[in-house]
Amino acid sequence: MMKIVKTAPFQDQKPGTSGLRKKIVHATQENYLENFVQSMMDLLAEKEKSLLVLGGDGRYYNDQAIQLIIKIAAANGVERLLIGQRGILSTPAASHLIRHYSAGGGIVLSASHNPGGKDGDFGIKFNNASGSPAPESFTSELFELTKKISEYRILESDDIDLSKLGRSVVGDMQIDVLDAVADYQDMLAKSFDMTWLKEEFSRGKLSLAFDAMHAVTGPYAKVIFGQTLGEKPDNIVNAVPLEDFGGGHPDPNLVHAKDLVAKMYSKNSPLLGAASDGDGDRNLILGASTFVSPSDSLAVIAEHAHLIPQFSGGLRGVARSMPTSTALDRVAIDKGIPCYETPTGWKFFGNLLDAGMINLCGEESFGTSGDHIREKDGLWAVLCWLTICGKTNKAPHELLRDLWQKYGRSYYCRYDYEGVPQALADQVMKELKDKLTDLKGVTFGGFEVLDADSFSYVDPVDNSSTHNQGFRIFLRGGHRVIYRLSGTGTDNATIRVYLELLEKDTAKIDGDVFETLKGLGNVANELANVTSITGFVEPSVVT
Ligand code: G1P
Ligand code: ZN
Repeated sequence: MMKIVKTAPFQDQKPGTSGLRKKIVHATQENYLENFVQSMMDLLAEKEKSLLVLGGDGRYYNDQAIQLIIKIAAANGVERLLIGQRGILSTPAASHLIRHYSAGGGIVLSASHNPGGKDGDFGIKFNNASGSPAPESFTSELFELTKKISEYRILESDDIDLSKLGRSVVGDMQIDVLDAVADYQDMLAKSFDMTWLKEEFSRGKLSLAFDAMHAVTGPYAKVIFGQTLGEKPDNIVNAVPLEDFGGGHPDPNLVHAKDLVAKMYSKNSPLLGAASDGDGDRNLILGASTFVSPSDSLAVIAEHAHLIPQFSGGLRGVARSMPTSTALDRVAIDKGIPCYETPTGWKFFGNLLDAGMINLCGEESFGTSGDHIREKDGLWAVLCWLTICGKTNKAPHELLRDLWQKYGRSYYCRYDYEGVPQALADQVMKELKDKLTDLKGVTFGGFEVLDADSFSYVDPVDNSSTHNQGFRIFLRGGHRVIYRLSGTGTDNATIRVYLELLEKDTAKIDGDVFETLKGLGNVANELANVTSITGFVEPSVVT
């Protein structure tokens, strides 16, 4: 039976960089999720409600949230739901299913790389019919609805068993529980030559250590890297998804993927090391004693794209988020293709991909993907690297060296100041904004400011504009410092400072990244008074 429940609106359901993210205790308040999902339902057109995909990264509360969404969907005229087995879908798999089954969209439960468990975070977002995170026009309308909602509709029914594959009916709605790994693997098989990769593994030319970080990619990695390509089970670690990610932080970077880093920096490391995040869209790439920065990873993939079957027709154009290093731009110039600079967040790539203007894109935050789906795709990026290493007979450090020799090296890193009181973070940004125009021509610690601005973006496809997307400081020599506030955190504010130092002298491209960037880091701190305003002497995380 359908029930109408009176509710009061919450004023804080504004989606951020990637959907709504809140602490579990906040997200599990009475009617909190119900309100958000009902508002989503109110915004969806009849056509979109004919078929929706539903799944999440398996973190704490995933189970209950999925059951709740099923019942609200059934009471709101959704005709059919496709759900991952046990309610679990990686973000790239969800994007693929939406496209593959021509769904009207999908509801993806993910807080990505944020911590899980009872004390961790919860996240929810809507992806549109092309599989892309909903654009800002949708999320801002959704936010408006959440501020006014007065009732929600829900079907009174028992929980659905999502452990078994197959079809069932809830009210007037049909539910299909799918094996998410199978569909995803079929898709990857079209992008890569899996038979050739398998041979390269069996000949010992390729080898991989993969860390699933107790997050969603474990089952995918076991099938794809283990069963299909033949990598040893021992080399696929932390492959059982846990709702608290084993107490770890499912963020594949040098800080949180410590075990993998240790393995790759030891003797007898495999050719490639990789990890993915909570919901499987991020990737970390390592070689023997080598860290591949995500910006360089994107540039290497662009440089060698012709070796990847998905790109056999060539790259049409590429895109990177604004803070991502300019390594990609130099490859694009060499190849004679356009390179677009978008605001942070995958949703800004959607239109460019849909319009066929780009077929490769990425972000410095360990995100890379192509036009096969509309999300970043962690395992796909690993397969790109395996293909490139195999076809060129080169290890990651050699591929990086080739890139830097040809184009110069963008030494790159990001300083994160986490848990900064919101008022102080706002003060840092406000003071910086006020002095942006005065910075021009001034030299700090040997770096001369050529220009400084607040980044705005006009989408070349639909002409929508987005403002206040971070401050860019351009320095003489092609160096940059970028500042922005995170839009995914749930704990006070996070200030992100991105440092890029371009070295064109090939005699100087082998330096240590953190040492090389120290001076620029001090300048960045001084320019924005980060220490004096926030009291943070050091960033909380450097990646
Ligand atoms: C962060 C990353 C951004 C990425 C997003 C979702 O957002 O910086 O590139 O798209 O997570 O994975 P932020 O917290 O900086 O707003
Ligand atoms: Zn993620």
